[in-house]
Amino acid sequence: EKGGYDHFMLKEIFEQPKALKDTMTGRLDEQKVILQEVNLTPEEVKDIRKVFIVACGTAWHAGLVGKTLIEHWVRVPVEVDIASEFRYRSPLIDEHTLVVVISQSGETADTLAALREAKKLGARVVAVTNVVGSSVSREAHDVIYTWAGPEIAVASTKAYTTQLEGMVLLGLYLAQTRGTMAPEQIGKVIAALKEIPAQAQKLLDQAENIKDFAQSFVKVEDTFFIGRSLDWNVAMEGSLKLKEISYIHAEAYAAGELKHGTLALITEQTPVIALATQMDVYEKTVSNIKEVKARDAKVIGITFEGNTDLAKSVDHVIYLPKTVSELAPILTVIPLQLLAYYVSVARGCDVDKPRNLAKSVTVE
Ligand code: BG6
Repeated sequence: EKGGYDHFMLKEIFEQPKALKDTMTGRLDEQKVILQEVNLTPEEVKDIRKVFIVACGTAWHAGLVGKTLIEHWVRVPVEVDIASEFRYRSPLIDEHTLVVVISQSGETADTLAALREAKKLGARVVAVTNVVGSSVSREAHDVIYTWAGPEIAVASTKAYTTQLEGMVLLGLYLAQTRGTMAPEQIGKVIAALKEIPAQAQKLLDQAENIKDFAQSFVKVEDTFFIGRSLDWNVAMEGSLKLKEISYIHAEAYAAGELKHGTLALITEQTPVIALATQMDVYEKTVSNIKEVKARDAKVIGITFEGNTDLAKSVDHVIYLPKTVSELAPILTVIPLQLLAYYVSVARGCDVDKPRNLAKSVTVE
């Protein structure tokens, strides 16, 4: 059942090229996204004044990327809420609000309660979920399915990357309907998206390098993941993966914020994983990397192939196949998933069933 892999998590990490491909199948024209399951009229899309994205855990991390993309492409304000917080803070919602709930299982009680609250307040609710017929899919007005296939390991991997893809599809769909992106611009992102499955495969083909490298994390007690913009959003997911399955304490920090708070926690004992794929803030990120290097941290950088500059400022570089900056998160997270996986194995942890965690939590 694990298809020759030692754990479901590794199998699911390796299934990402297929999951990503399946999730885009039938949804991409040359310069247009087709979301058949979303039944909003163009007038309704144009009427949206605010978007809320609501989810838990890894799905919430996908929502953070969604916010950055939708605000960038659609120029509409987006808030991202943790589902268990959302309904208790009297969210400012009305019939001009689009609420997007993200849930792999479609059964998470907190997310379901948030969905019901949003409907009660008059919002239109679009669900992004992986399970056909799940509670979330039945109760939402519209559904964008991720076609990742069953995810068994508690730590989410292929569900996350397909949720990111769902955010890309939704963002482009809203932008094309509201006319905030030219068709050629949309076409450029679509062309890049089509390359993603093969690029993900390319990264997976180098998994052994990450495995070797992971051995240096076995005795680590604390680590930081840093980045700016979308890289920060992915840093949060990378940090969560490591914490969830290897029990190493990890913090994700917006790279520019370290100096305002926690820089003192960084020492030579604290490896730092620095994501540097967002070239508009690249120089700033490098300055922040220099700050942690000055505290003797060992730094592992992640950037695109061809950017040899980063090697000057870090101890080790992981290179990603080149894509547009908006799609970088889908690739960036893959080495982070592999790192968490191999560190967990090396520490002798129960990878697929980490302590005190359930795959889907159906109590609030
Ligand atoms: C948690 C799981 O309980 O629920 C996480 O341990 C998951 O892995 C989160 O991300 C949300 O789950 P779902 O099914 O709503 O996406």
